[in-house]
Amino acid sequence: MWPSTPFAGNTVSACPTLTTERLILRPFEESDLDAYTAIVTSPEVRAALHLPDGFSRADAWTGMAKWLGQWELRGTGQWAVVDKSSGTLLGRAGLNLPERPDWPGIEVGWTMDPKQWGHGYANEAATRAVEYGFDVVGADGLLSVILPENTRSMAVAMRLGFTFVEERVMAHFSEMPHGIWRLGRDEWQPWPERPAVRKPSPSGR
Ligand SMILES: CC(C)(COP(=O)(O)OP(=O)(O)OC[C@H]1O[C@@H](n2cnc3c(N)ncnc32)[C@H](O)[C@@H]1OP(=O)(O)O)[C@@H](O)C(=O)NCCC(=O)NCCS
Repeated sequence: MWPSTPFAGNTVSACPTLTTERLILRPFEESDLDAYTAIVTSPEVRAALHLPDGFSRADAWTGMAKWLGQWELRGTGQWAVVDKSSGTLLGRAGLNLPERPDWPGIEVGWTMDPKQWGHGYANEAATRAVEYGFDVVGADGLLSVILPENTRSMAVAMRLGFTFVEERVMAHFSEMPHGIWRLGRDEWQPWPERPAVRKPSPSGR
């Protein structure tokens, strides 16, 4: 651990701490680094996000810092998603509005520890993020940018009521087109009135 000033981790963040039934959504902390590195260097997450072979602890730290920075600069970002009962870091989820010329709008994104898949944690965290995007950020619509091969991610989007809009090659990843999914404010209904679960098709349509 590097030395830090007394101010480190001691400031009021633009990233709010929120809770759901099972989760705490909070700003990333320096102490998340070991657990976050394990998540983003896992074979499953690296494959899904097309992260390079050498993706490292340093890259994980930069990622945490970027999310905190986006909260401060823009009022959007992803939270560290923590299990309320154990304090275990489960992954990250939240809003993403990066400075990219072809980025389509405010995205809701999610990445969970593969050991924690299949428990509905991404769904629970993303539901809170959608609520925040509409109620606090004031978005008219929210997007999710998903590779058509990523069926688990498309399933999360569909459970939230997102619908497929189009495929588009994005400048940050030119190897294949991304699917753009959208949830309009008028289509969003807070739990339990959300649309029923639908299984994704391989094409994402
Ligand atoms: C995408 C990703 C977050 C999805 O995780 P997940 O755990 O499958 O998603 P959810 O939280 O919605 O969980 C849904 C599953 O939990 C089950 N579940 C169990 N308890 C549940 C509960 N209380 N509520 C909701 N679902 C529950 C559902 O039935 C579903 O099961 P299934 O996988 O057998 O269909 C995960 O695969 C991931 O991190 N992938 C790598 C990173 C990535 O691709 N990010 C997205 C880039 S676009």
